[in-house]
Amino acid sequence: MILITGATGNLGKATINSLLNKGIPANNIAALVRDESKSDEFKSKGIQVRLGDYQNFESLTSAFKDVDKLLLISSSSEIVHRFEQHKNVIDAAKETGVSHIVYTSFAMKDLRRSSMVEDVQYHAETSDYLKQLAIPYTLMANTMYADMIPMLSGNNILEVGVSIPAGEGKVPFLPIQEMAEALAVVLTTAGHQDKEYVIAADTAFSFAEIAELISDILDKRVTYKQPEVDAYIAQFVQNGFSEEDAAYLARYTQAIAKGEFGTNKSDVKDLLGRSPISLKDFLGTILSK
Ligand SMILES: NC(=O)c1ccc[n+]([C@@H]2O[C@H](COP(=O)([O-])OP(=O)(O)OC[C@H]3O[C@@H](n4cnc5c(N)ncnc54)[C@H](OP(=O)(O)O)[C@@H]3O)[C@@H](O)[C@H]2O)c1
Repeated sequence: MILITGATGNLGKATINSLLNKGIPANNIAALVRDESKSDEFKSKGIQVRLGDYQNFESLTSAFKDVDKLLLISSSSEIVHRFEQHKNVIDAAKETGVSHIVYTSFAMKDLRRSSMVEDVQYHAETSDYLKQLAIPYTLMANTMYADMIPMLSGNNILEVGVSIPAGEGKVPFLPIQEMAEALAVVLTTAGHQDKEYVIAADTAFSFAEIAELISDILDKRVTYKQPEVDAYIAQFVQNGFSEEDAAYLARYTQAIAKGEFGTNKSDVKDLLGRSPISLKDFLGTILSK
């Protein structure tokens, strides 16, 4: 049995679909869900639904019965709670005899020395904890989602252009769908125990280069503007984000500007047995929607 946590989220859903597309029978897949009202689509596909909350250890030990491989998708709860929640999942997996844990970490040059260390160090803490616990693990260091580019760029690319204070920093953005496929490979094939993979594109792009790609796609000049950080935050707040969430996004832009996402390594081609979709082709598909 393969259990997917964060099953109701973007990456969890995409991973379950990738497993089904690989021919894994639905009754060999379990979805960890904390809100039963979100479980209908899994039940209708024949996927087992296990109720559990990262915050509640007992709910996890009962949810993980008979689970062989477990994908721990990092929590979207408040950052201060994330490591403690991940520790609950890992401890419950150990107690119930899970034989392999796959964890979605984050691809930055150095999580512990990042300019946004307080936002990302839980990934390093979770990875270290997993290694200490002596359950076979695989760390998937995911880069930033390519799917977030329109939102990070101010969500109004067609009229305003790409608007983000990210300097000339580059990110090897990769679509969620490709990350999900890489996860499905690791969950269904041998040879991934105690390995760390970088899940990122081969090529990193700056937002100036992204504006050029979009100009080519739309056959229209799309400019790259760098608002002041305060103006960037204010624009998100005006669009309904909380101050806290807007400031969090702005910290990403500053880390990008400092070049913290250039990892110069990618294991995606080896895992997928093909090159991932290019950023230009991916942006073409999402901008045509
Ligand atoms: N690499 C990147 O660019 C990037 C971008 C955004 C986020 N992330 C990280 O990657 C993770 C996956 O991304 P995503 O887009 O799939 O996120 P998402 O759509 O927000 O999904 C998060 C999932 O975590 C579940 N969850 C949150 N707190 C939980 C708890 N206490 N107990 C059990 N489940 C809990 C949510 O359940 P509910 O449906 O019940 O809320 C949801 O299924 C995020 O959680 C975040 O840590 C990475």
